[in-house]
Amino acid sequence: MARHLITSALPYINGIKHLGNMVGSMLPADVYSRYLRQRGHDVLYICATDEHGTPAELAAKERGLPVDVFCGQAHDAQKAVYDGFALAFDYFGRSSSAQNREITQHFARKLHENGFIEERSIRQVYSPADGRFLPDRYVEGTCPHCGYDKARGDQCENCTRVLDPTDLINPRSAISGSTDLEVRETKHLFLLQSKLESEVREWVARHDKDWPQLASSIAHKWLTEGLHDRAITRDLDWGVPVPADTWPELAAEGKVFYVWFDAPIEYIGATKEWSDQDPENRDWKSWWYEADQGENPVRYTEFMAKDNVPFHTVMFPATELGIREPWKMVDYVKAFNWLTYYGGKFSTSQKRGVFTDQALEILPADYWRYFLIANAPESDDSSFTWEHFTATVNKDLADTLGNFVNRVLSFSKKRFGDEVPVGGTPGEAETRLGEQIAELLAEYEGHMESLQFRKAAAALRALWSAGNSYLEEKAPWLQIKTDKDAAALTLRTAMNLIHLYAVVSEPLIPATAKAMREAFALGDDTAAWVTADEAKSLTSVPSGTAFTVPPVLFAKLTDEDLDNYKTRFGGQEQ
Ligand code: 2FM
Ligand code: ZN
Repeated sequence: MARHLITSALPYINGIKHLGNMVGSMLPADVYSRYLRQRGHDVLYICATDEHGTPAELAAKERGLPVDVFCGQAHDAQKAVYDGFALAFDYFGRSSSAQNREITQHFARKLHENGFIEERSIRQVYSPADGRFLPDRYVEGTCPHCGYDKARGDQCENCTRVLDPTDLINPRSAISGSTDLEVRETKHLFLLQSKLESEVREWVARHDKDWPQLASSIAHKWLTEGLHDRAITRDLDWGVPVPADTWPELAAEGKVFYVWFDAPIEYIGATKEWSDQDPENRDWKSWWYEADQGENPVRYTEFMAKDNVPFHTVMFPATELGIREPWKMVDYVKAFNWLTYYGGKFSTSQKRGVFTDQALEILPADYWRYFLIANAPESDDSSFTWEHFTATVNKDLADTLGNFVNRVLSFSKKRFGDEVPVGGTPGEAETRLGEQIAELLAEYEGHMESLQFRKAAAALRALWSAGNSYLEEKAPWLQIKTDKDAAALTLRTAMNLIHLYAVVSEPLIPATAKAMREAFALGDDTAAWVTADEAKSLTSVPSGTAFTVPPVLFAKLTDEDLDNYKTRFGGQEQ
């Protein structure tokens, strides 16, 4: 059986992420991991904070903290939010770990040995006032393309053009504001991607056939533009140091690797962190090295938003190919479009949109998990609005699922007591229902297996709806007046549906699934999934099983709630 290695793009350390980040990488990766685990697969789900680069240094400076202290605190703060969202990582690491340093340096040495790294002199912005070079975001100034006056040295936020710090007009230091800047020659390491271009091209051609169109089209766009040699070091205090045994001069100057060089390597680094912190997890290397071979080959799936696709489909593969060692490369790239906030950008600086910590202050994780997956920006961008969010919660979660569970269990308790009622023989309606449920379940499984999250959520919703239709058709509140056994059969069948929902809804709404499952005193309820036969017969919870009525699963959101959210978060059309 295959082993499944799953990673989601590493969130930058410099702040709590918004819902757009969550739906574009970590949440769907969690849903997929949970699903595969439930289906009995061996799964390793790895993520970490991306801690290097200028954003980390600048954020630390803003808070007046040494960068390592800042990163430690910011890592814990992000981890707490992800725990709140019930993201079941096997490990959530840190790209500043010793393990990542060791593997990144090893990769760099190998690339050098194989002739894919070269030292070159380049012109960089230097600030005498700060006594240092100013890479990337350390320089701000006016964009030469659009005139935006707060453009950063790596990119203009206004027109999204990628920039070099020397391109900026009227440049100033982002540290001191000094405009007394010079351009000085300095040596850096370059990754000779141009030499790897044809290999990357062939690798993409062999692998992108089953990738989603979004990932494959972005990969091809970058390949069309050609692979250029890239500087992979920077003059920063914080980062993976260039190894002194290979580049003594650059190491003495304090050069570190560029954040995008060591970040993807942290997928491997974090797996080693996972092994090192628990003696039970000793086999990190078997997930990454020669992992295509043997009895349990690894299938590797990466989750990310579209802006990360070039790095994962072209640049990191170039690095891995250049190493000439059998490290695992990605099999499937699941890429997402943007989630927008009322059609506009979520913006950290302008505080537009909903951040993950704020979301959890308002409502429990399952509300968000369901909504985000049901509206995942898969084939196109999708827009978050409070109107859509509250309507979805009310319709799908409160009415279709929550109300069904509550109605069935409360009514049965009232009329038949605390145990699943006995009586009645399944007939034509139950056969029809069973067939429908088995069919919808197969549909749900198919969408999960092909990583079509919106469609999977729709199939799950259809499973919940089928229960409602059955209940309306049988109307146990009327049956009870004339035929107690018939009412007992309906309620028992509906309770079996609740148990089935508990099992199969877990990947999307784990806390609610647990509450539904725990409603039944089934002793050793270890059911990991539901077979087609079980779905057809709907008899896993036998009569006589004690049950309790759980508290309301999903609160209905009112117009007042909607107004409050919009006032607090500024929801309006763009
Ligand atoms: O775009 C981002 O948020 C990056 N921090 C993603 C890094 S993914 C990986 F390669 F580490
Ligand atoms: Zn611009």
